[in-house]
Amino acid sequence: MKTIAVLSRKGGAGKTTVAVSLGIAAQQAGLKAVVADIDPIRSAAVALRGRTAPASILIETTPGKLRAVRDACWRNGCNLLIVDTPPAPTSDVVKAIDVADFCLAVARPSALDIAAIH
Ligand SMILES: Nc1ncnc2c1ncn2[C@@H]1O[C@H](COP(=O)(O)OP(=O)(O)O)[C@@H](O)[C@H]1O
Ligand SMILES: [Mg+2]
Repeated sequence: MKTIAVLSRKGGAGKTTVAVSLGIAAQQAGLKAVVADIDPIRSAAVALRGRTAPASILIETTPGKLRAVRDACWRNGCNLLIVDTPPAPTSDVVKAIDVADFCLAVARPSALDIAAIH
């Protein structure tokens, strides 16, 4: 199993869109995928809540529970865990980075988005 953390310090960069799209694309490609929403705004959850077929890919959780979520996904034969993160606080995003094999930093092609990557 691989874990991808989708992150950006800036809101509105496209994190949730990328995380949800990756999760659905992975499921459609035959992978057992899960999107873990750790953003209290719950945008990924809003996008995925009504989507139960062929199987729900949504887990609504908190940064502190991410390690347990990752272990549970692994035990249940999950292939891909995608973590949708909030733009802040940094300590919450670091928890997602800690469990990730790969971090995907999302940015619009604008000066402020690119500055937020640093
Ligand atoms: N590649 C894209 N092109 C155009 N609009 C996008 C793109 N990705 C996201 N958006 C739009 O930008 C807004 C913010 O995206 P969102 O994924 O919620 O960002 P974040 O999770 O970083 O706050 C949404 O209205 C979304 O539809
Ligand atoms: Mg978001």
